[in-house]
Amino acid sequence: MSERPYRRFIVESVIAESESAKSFHLVPGDGLPLEEFRPGQHLPLRLSIPGRATPLFRCYTISNYGDPFYRLTIKKELPPPDRPGTPAGLSSSFFHEAIVSGAVVEAKPPSGTFWLDTAQQHPIVMVAGGIGVTPMMSMLEALARAGAHRPVYFFFALRHSGDHVFKTRLHEIAERFSGLRMKVFYEQIRPGDREHFDYHAVGRIDVLGIRAELPAGDSEYFLCGPSGMMKAISDDLLAHGVRAERIRTETFGPSSVALRQLISSDESAMNAFQQAAGTTVTFARSGVNVPWTGETPTLLQLAESNGVEISSGCQYGDCGTCMTRLLEGKVQYLHPTGARPDPGFCLPCSCRPDGSVVLDA
Ligand SMILES: Cc1cc2nc3c(=O)[nH]c(=O)nc-3n(C[C@H](O)[C@H](O)[C@H](O)COP(=O)(O)OP(=O)(O)OC[C@H]3O[C@@H](n4cnc5c(N)ncnc54)[C@H](O)[C@@H]3O)c2cc1C
Ligand code: FES
Repeated sequence: MSERPYRRFIVESVIAESESAKSFHLVPGDGLPLEEFRPGQHLPLRLSIPGRATPLFRCYTISNYGDPFYRLTIKKELPPPDRPGTPAGLSSSFFHEAIVSGAVVEAKPPSGTFWLDTAQQHPIVMVAGGIGVTPMMSMLEALARAGAHRPVYFFFALRHSGDHVFKTRLHEIAERFSGLRMKVFYEQIRPGDREHFDYHAVGRIDVLGIRAELPAGDSEYFLCGPSGMMKAISDDLLAHGVRAERIRTETFGPSSVALRQLISSDESAMNAFQQAAGTTVTFARSGVNVPWTGETPTLLQLAESNGVEISSGCQYGDCGTCMTRLLEGKVQYLHPTGARPDPGFCLPCSCRPDGSVVLDA
């Protein structure tokens, strides 16, 4: 896999989609056509945020399909309710507060393995939680555009109507696309919310509640939302006899901060970092050679703290964005990864060196 360069995009327009999310329409700054993508894929971005010494790398799903622009729909990540003093999400705040029409952002070509094969005909079940709807939105747009008659069961869970992105567009698609059955869940009802129009059920989605509405036979399941919701639903689907290979999931990943806390609270992982101390890590293309002291939990964080640029997205081994060629040595993974590194490559966000290593970065 050769390194693919970043390309400049101009933000053509910014559209408020809900109380918490905005869409950003991106057109190529070089006037050349957009690169093709599969519905469900994302763009790896490199953001230069004023006041930050190093760029920030984040992934955002392309939430449209078939238009002459990429649409990114970004939810502003607020501090966790139990940590009111912590800063809001860096990249999402930057988009919401600083990115206006005419701004320039840099993105690599679309990537990711969570995409829908529109040529197939089997039924599809989509379960989206909150902003996790963005890949499903692209898939629905692609199916509607292709005039598909394929059965699609779309379950959409939201906290409340204030988070309800794409409501009008989803109604339009449902009117035109006869195969689509849509069910929206609100956790809380607000005054003025209309049952059977804005929402269809109150509470959280669980498999028991939707089992009677699921298609019989072989279907493909796409799940994207908060990790707790996805785990509960995939566990229940497996318990109900759905084969693991028919369940596709995408997680938008814990923040790097949360991930660092998660990893540092794991004693056995910390022991493992210590054991590897004394080895060296070489980032060959950057000409950087540093000792592995175990102070940073992953090779990605070691790269970042030494000014070596490696694109990243989920930072949890799921999106494949950080895949880097391992020129010499071996690595150990801290947890099972959803993305499968190609032979000779590794996922630096989720591994540490097992002895001295040389990376093509
Ligand atoms: C493949 C993929 C596709 C994605 N698609 C989308 C999409 O379509 N739309 C979308 O909105 N997002 C999407 N994401 C998520 C997105 O990439 C970002 O992770 C998200 O926007 C949060 O990034 P941030 O920089 O704003 O937040 P971060 O700065 O990473 O912070 C995340 C959270 O941590 C909190 N935090 C900050 N400091 C601390 C601390 N010390 N302790 C505890 N908590 C703290 C912040 O308040 C915030 O709530 C996608 C992710 C992936 C991997
Ligand atoms: S950043 Fe997603 S796999 Fe490494």
